Amino acid sequence: MKISKRKLELVVVGLIGVSLAGVAIAQDAAANITARKTDMRTIQANMLVVNDKTGKRDLAGAKEAAGKLNAAFKDLATRFTPGTNSKAGAGATRAKDDIFANPAAFKAKVDHAIDLTDKVVTAVNGTSPEAAQLAIGEVNALCADCHGTFRSGG
Ligand code: HEC
Repeated sequence: MKISKRKLELVVVGLIGVSLAGVAIAQDAAANITARKTDMRTIQANMLVVNDKTGKRDLAGAKEAAGKLNAAFKDLATRFTPGTNSKAGAGATRAKDDIFANPAAFKAKVDHAIDLTDKVVTAVNGTSPEAAQLAIGEVNALCADCHGTFRSGG
């Protein structure tokens, strides 16, 4: 079979395109793993600030942290993409395979966290320290619940 030079060039260009796309996906996967761990640390740090400030009835002092807590959960929701499980090799992760095998159950927990942190933002913009304390208390209960199901090593 005679293959024209032009066709061969197109095949080569096509193959390079496919492998570049593969590299791009692997880089995205590594970036998503890094980003979700950063989100989690942001969540932890800002949860502590909101707990502290609302405990002192300082709603104004809790506002910025409440916004960051909420934004980090929204970002987290986008970071458990295909190719980011522990076996894909894109980066060290404690995300359990169940997240990828049963994405609806995981998404429900993340969506619940987004809803509850929306409520924290509303509460710290209100006037009742008690309401804000209750709202952040509900968020505190989410950490162990989700980690127990979806994070390896506790
Ligand atoms: C919807 C599920 C879910 C919720 C809710 C959740 N986490 Fe996580 N968390 C995870 C998963 C999954 C990982 C593992 C991420 C990875 O290694 O890729 C993790 C990892 C972490 C880490 C380790 C980050 C790192 O540097 O490797 C910290 C810290 C953390 N979470 C804190 C919290 C705190 C504090 C809360 C509660 C305010 C919370 N998480 C709520 C699922 C959740």
